[in-house]
Amino acid sequence: MKIPKMKNNIRDQMSSYPPEPFRIKMVEPIRLIGPQERSQAIEKAGYNVFALRAEDIFIDLLTDSGTGAMSDRQWAAIMQGDESYAGARSFYRLTEVVQEIFGFRHFVPTHQGRAAENILAACLVKPGNFVPSNMHFDTTDANIRVRGGHPTNLVIDEAFDPANLHPFKGNMDIAKLRAFIEKVGVENIPFGMMTVTNNAGGGQPISMENLRAVAGTYHDYGLPFFIDAARYAENSYFIKLREPGYTNRSTLEIAREMFSLADGAAMSAKKDAIVNIGGLLMMNDEGLFRNVCNELIIREGFPTYGGLAGRDLDAMAVGLREGLDEKFLAYRLNQTAYLAYRIKEGGVPIVEPPGGHAVYVDAGHLLPHIPHGEFPGQALTIELYLEGGIRSSEIGSVMFAHPDPDSGEIVYPQLEMVRLAIPRRVYTQSHMDYVAEVIGKIAKRADELRGYRFTYAPELLRHFTARFEPLKTFTAKTRRTRSLIL
Ligand code: F0G
Repeated sequence: MKIPKMKNNIRDQMSSYPPEPFRIKMVEPIRLIGPQERSQAIEKAGYNVFALRAEDIFIDLLTDSGTGAMSDRQWAAIMQGDESYAGARSFYRLTEVVQEIFGFRHFVPTHQGRAAENILAACLVKPGNFVPSNMHFDTTDANIRVRGGHPTNLVIDEAFDPANLHPFKGNMDIAKLRAFIEKVGVENIPFGMMTVTNNAGGGQPISMENLRAVAGTYHDYGLPFFIDAARYAENSYFIKLREPGYTNRSTLEIAREMFSLADGAAMSAKKDAIVNIGGLLMMNDEGLFRNVCNELIIREGFPTYGGLAGRDLDAMAVGLREGLDEKFLAYRLNQTAYLAYRIKEGGVPIVEPPGGHAVYVDAGHLLPHIPHGEFPGQALTIELYLEGGIRSSEIGSVMFAHPDPDSGEIVYPQLEMVRLAIPRRVYTQSHMDYVAEVIGKIAKRADELRGYRFTYAPELLRHFTARFEPLKTFTAKTRRTRSLIL
């Protein structure tokens, strides 16, 4: 593929941040508590930002999931919610939009993305199975593991180089995928996946060309192909901006083409459908749909409401259309790029080019003196809270390091990142400026930061509930270099 030249000039990016295509009708006060109070709050939280009280946070960039601001039209739709147990009007309004955008023959609503993943894994994954993807996000990874399966990540190598400006760093390595399928055998692979955009790898997009090649590869081997569609609208807009031949296509057309390549999709609607709760599980196969409905009835509810209130289905129906709006997406991706380049201008390494929903700070590079096992990302996350009341999330060894099943040795992820996820339609440019200034201040005294160790950690999804204590000195004898450990 001919790679278009990427804009990497800080001034260009910063001057092209279009004004918000909305105005504010309702406000929610936020406050910055004092440094002493922040220090006490984080100690009480066991140095895990998930355990903080939200009211003790000034700017909350923990996640872009379920944290967006709904529009007046979504709130109006909520008032029309039909709360019938079965066959509600709300379900049929949602069906119309789901058919228009995704085009799969069958779907069920779920209460959020991980419920869709759980049901899909319950129906298809058997112990010892492998499920390849570019990169699974944490809940998908865990839902495959709890069924005894092995989630396998086969993203292109460029994804692991934060400075590489490849426009589609979420792409799958097709040669690796073919070799992997041959090695483990098709009979051990119930289905293949792609995460669109690639959240665990910097929020990076996937090109249509790559999606077509992935679908072709899975289908050559007779494997069903499922898309993790959490941020499909942002991916569609990246394709429009960066992939030759798509400039004049609408994001709706691009989305439809993406999904026409797949056999189904699991989606958290809390991101690109701009709702506070909701998900979708979609598929073409009739037999699978029947099994999915049976699983859904045990876990979620009746197939026409799937764990949600009727009003939630209506908010999702409206939000799905708003999330694909090109004026909104232009503002959204540029707001992220603006924050990224302001942070970079302050001398802090970031994953480039910026992803859609978040800026990923390369904490491994910023804090080379803290080894993987002492969690450089966690150290930066805590410092962001102490310095400026900002909540972010670690996407590094706390989240992904795990013992090798054969040797028992700890396998560390290649990147130690801190994610600043931007809720949709919530924060303004001055909030972004504040965040960039706080990080800039921390970067100036980066060598003072120290690592952390676990005082408690569960086996799966440990970042949510783990507790830590700060290390006073370095336990590792050697400074970690930027070289990749895997
Ligand atoms: N897939 C991707 C790519 C995700 O980013 C998430 C959630 C899920 C699935 C699960 O969806 O939360 O609705 O159950 N990501 C959130 C985040 C939590 O902060 O990135 P869910």
